[in-house]
Amino acid sequence: MSKITRFGVSLESTLLEKFDQLNTQKGYKNRSEAIRDLIREKLVSEEWNSSQQETVGVFSLVYDHHQRELNKTLNHIQHQHVEVIVSSTHVHIDQHNCLEVIILKGKANIIKKITDQLTSTRGVKHGELIMTSTGSSLK
Ligand code: NI
Repeated sequence: MSKITRFGVSLESTLLEKFDQLNTQKGYKNRSEAIRDLIREKLVSEEWNSSQQETVGVFSLVYDHHQRELNKTLNHIQHQHVEVIVSSTHVHIDQHNCLEVIILKGKANIIKKITDQLTSTRGVKHGELIMTSTGSSLK
């Protein structure tokens, strides 16, 4: 763990009150942890704006497996990107619907391209990408 540095922040009282209220709702015990999380959030968002840094995404996909050729198409797209797709889990939700959760690790633009391609495939009902982090930029 790296050295801890203390610093002072000046801001409008009303803004600080709102921040404190929010932190209480969210369950933060003190401002420091809430500020640390805000900074980490910003760093993760930068990780996703960078074209060089490696990052991690968790992608969920809901689709109707009765749709003709859909299973095959989705599988084909994933097989083309084995270097980025780390893991995938398939759940049969009911008689019609499937849920797939895919973990991807690589450059942000490549992850977005793959997940956009999966989401826009005909018959896919919902696709959602969680843009998280490898954690290495958050030390
Ligand atoms: Ni299924």
